[in-house]
Amino acid sequence: MVRVLFVCLGNICRSPTAEGVFRKLVCEHKLEHQFEIDSAGTHAYHIGEPPDERAQAACVRRGIDISRLRGRRAVAGDIESFDYVLAMDRENYENLLEVCPSGLETRIRLFMEFAPSRPEQEVPDPYFGGAGGFDRVLDMIEDAAQGLLDEIRRARLRA
Ligand code: 4NP
Repeated sequence: MVRVLFVCLGNICRSPTAEGVFRKLVCEHKLEHQFEIDSAGTHAYHIGEPPDERAQAACVRRGIDISRLRGRRAVAGDIESFDYVLAMDRENYENLLEVCPSGLETRIRLFMEFAPSRPEQEVPDPYFGGAGGFDRVLDMIEDAAQGLLDEIRRARLRA
């Protein structure tokens, strides 16, 4: 079992989108029984809420339903439970490191590391921008999700 957690600030825009995209990709490869996939927010002002409607709509346009996800806050125990803890931006990364149990720091990575052909190193927060920001975020997340699955298959599934 490979455990993957996506983390952003609010857990209503970027990380639930990444969860939905990665889940779809894993299902397309019929690998869902090998994965546990979740998302959380470092601050989570929206605990218990569904994803932002703009994020839901952008996902629906690509055949992904994230409507049943609910916001939750990331806790230190998540870093013990998950093999990959993927931060959307550097602020998320630093906030995770602050609560990281000693010795587990390498589990925390910037998600865009897995899309090395892209110039962006962070997934920008689309919350305060226009609707187009959500499509751009999805493009980035789709690339990084593919890179992440490739890496996990190489490193852990030997497939
Ligand atoms: P997310 O976006 O971190 O991608 O879920 C945000 C959602 C809500 C807020 C900020 C960012 N907020 O300030 O409420």
